[in-house]
Amino acid sequence: MLIGVPKESKVHEYRIGLVPMSVSELTYAGHEVIVETGAGCGAGLTDECYIKAGARIASGADEIFSKADMIIKVKEPLADECKKLREGQVLFTYLHLAPDEAQTRALLESGAICIAYETVTNPQGSLPLLTPMSEIAGRLSPQVGSVALQKNSGGSGILLAGALGVPAADVVVLGGGVAGSNAAMIALGMGASVTVVDCSAMVLASLSSRFGPRLRTIFSTHEGIAKIIQNADLVIGTVLIPGATAPRLLTADMIRSMKDGAVFVDVSIDQGGCSETSRATTYSDPTYIVDGVVHYCVSNMPGAVARTSAFSLNNMTLPFIKALADKGYLQAFAEDPFLRKGLNVYRGDLTIEAVAFAHGLDYTSAEMSLGLN
Ligand SMILES: NC(=O)c1ccc[n+]([C@@H]2O[C@H](COP(=O)([O-])OP(=O)(O)OC[C@H]3O[C@@H](n4cnc5c(N)ncnc54)[C@H](O)[C@@H]3O)[C@@H](O)[C@H]2O)c1
Repeated sequence: MLIGVPKESKVHEYRIGLVPMSVSELTYAGHEVIVETGAGCGAGLTDECYIKAGARIASGADEIFSKADMIIKVKEPLADECKKLREGQVLFTYLHLAPDEAQTRALLESGAICIAYETVTNPQGSLPLLTPMSEIAGRLSPQVGSVALQKNSGGSGILLAGALGVPAADVVVLGGGVAGSNAAMIALGMGASVTVVDCSAMVLASLSSRFGPRLRTIFSTHEGIAKIIQNADLVIGTVLIPGATAPRLLTADMIRSMKDGAVFVDVSIDQGGCSETSRATTYSDPTYIVDGVVHYCVSNMPGAVARTSAFSLNNMTLPFIKALADKGYLQAFAEDPFLRKGLNVYRGDLTIEAVAFAHGLDYTSAEMSLGLN
């Protein structure tokens, strides 16, 4: 199979879909890989590294999209990339279609086979290809939140750890899954006073036994959240309903009730965000202020730590990429129901129910589309 890796085109996105180690693995198995020139530079991976691993270097994205049987990316394709996709071409990347009707329609029109990293599952029912980036975004969130709390960023001028005789900052993490538990771990490590809110008693119990009494946990209710965020210095949103638009836990009124200069980091922004006041930002202008609350809503947070992220992502994606390349997508989907969960768009069919529901579009099951019934 000819596998193509274009350079990411999102603002300040420095990750790359395949690291050289993965290219070696694929070329060793008899596949061909073409990588757009300079695609790995942001992660410190030069064209020479890719040539050594067995890849060919393409001068531009057009060559990759016109020749490759399968495109491996990191972020969702932008409008001009959607236009380059060909009928029957496989696209394997993060898609986040629930909050993005324009992209959903463009992918349906392309006739391509679009597999989303974030909806691939595993036998434990979790999301193995979302996990590495959620871990990184979660770990980054107290770091970016602490900078946003600085006076020069528009924040209240509070240090997360406090100081001798001065209390530490109050951090509230909404959602205690992968991103949330990692956010809590780093915020605790930075000396903050941390509370995690989740709607799953099992999630709260596991956090409690992991962190002990240092971590406060509360069950997710509208009233409970409204109360706790009034005193918070930093709120980190990490809730997720797999495949669907993020639940809007914070209303504009709740944001208004927060302290002046408080910070809200919305990690869930790639699924539409968990506050009525959230709108996606990029690393070139990451924050904006609503009613005195600094909002940080960068939808590709791990892109800033591209090297760690690219390697971490590839560790998890490579087995699925190899299965698709070695067996062809039809056999790979037929044999692996967990990979099949990643199929969002198949030759003009929308095969993910939550996205069809979000946009009022027709849904066809992956099994039906693939003729597996
Ligand atoms: N912005 C970025 O750059 C970036 C990077 C990686 C991941 N993400 C996003 O981070 C989000 C979290 O991902 P994850 O892997 O941690 O998900 P996860 O499934 O591990 O955790 C989500 C948690 O939210 C909880 N939850 C759901 N509804 C809730 C509610 N109403 N109240 C309280 N808790 C609720 C769930 O019980 C679960 O524990 C996703 O939207 C993911 O796409 C964003």
